[in-house]
Amino acid sequence: MEPAQLLTLANRIEGLCCPEDCFTLYSLLKNIEAKGVAVEIGSFKGRVTVCLARALEEKNEGHLYTVDADLLKIRSNLLKNIEGYGLKKWVTPVFSFSAIANRGWSKPINFLWLDTDGNYFSWLADFLLWEPHVVEGGIVALSGASTFSTERILKKYIIGSGRFHDIIRSGSILFAYKGKQAKAYPAFKAIYIRTLSLCYCLFRKFIYNLKKCFLPSVKIGFLCLYII
Ligand SMILES: C[S@@+](CC[C@H](N)C(=O)[O-])C[C@H]1O[C@@H](n2cnc3c(N)ncnc32)[C@H](O)[C@@H]1O
Repeated sequence: MEPAQLLTLANRIEGLCCPEDCFTLYSLLKNIEAKGVAVEIGSFKGRVTVCLARALEEKNEGHLYTVDADLLKIRSNLLKNIEGYGLKKWVTPVFSFSAIANRGWSKPINFLWLDTDGNYFSWLADFLLWEPHVVEGGIVALSGASTFSTERILKKYIIGSGRFHDIIRSGSILFAYKGKQAKAYPAFKAIYIRTLSLCYCLFRKFIYNLKKCFLPSVKIGFLCLYII
């Protein structure tokens, strides 16, 4: 697909990743040599999902698992976009918290794209849970390059681990090629990270719902005060 066509495709779908960054992700996945499945954490309405699935369709190999907890009620939009662009064969949507989707995961990953809420703790939990499944030669890509959270992950876990090479920032994407697998950590550590991540996500969901109920009541309160 020509860059202009991919930009047009990305522009047609509501999303947060800019079309140029979608093109970067599409090109990375299309040209990756390592074997495995692609995993996206944070699909939203599928802007990046559709671009990644196009890369797989053009290569005629691979599969994309796209994970979203549906915090923003995007399920029907995501499914509509995947089906609407004829990409159902290439994508499996997983509506779940990433920490839960990770439980029992055994497929080797050649492309891992993380784009959830930009909070350091979310990055860290997703990185620690999913990165061990990335094969040597695979790519780990994060959104929000140069933000405080990604910089911390970059320094400590990407550069700091000495296991990645060709670490590149492109637009707001940070990506790196995995050179070496880390020693597997004990199962209890994964359970610990998963539990913490889940508590954090549920707390965020609770705050989000609270804000949704609370804000309209405050607005109505102010309106009543104004009328009185
Ligand atoms: C920033 S948006 C993703 C934007 C998307 N990549 C795009 O460019 O349009 C974040 C998404 O991540 C989802 N999300 C946040 N935390 C999550 C978690 N722990 N597990 C799974 N999905 C999560 C939200 O429901 C939301 O749809």
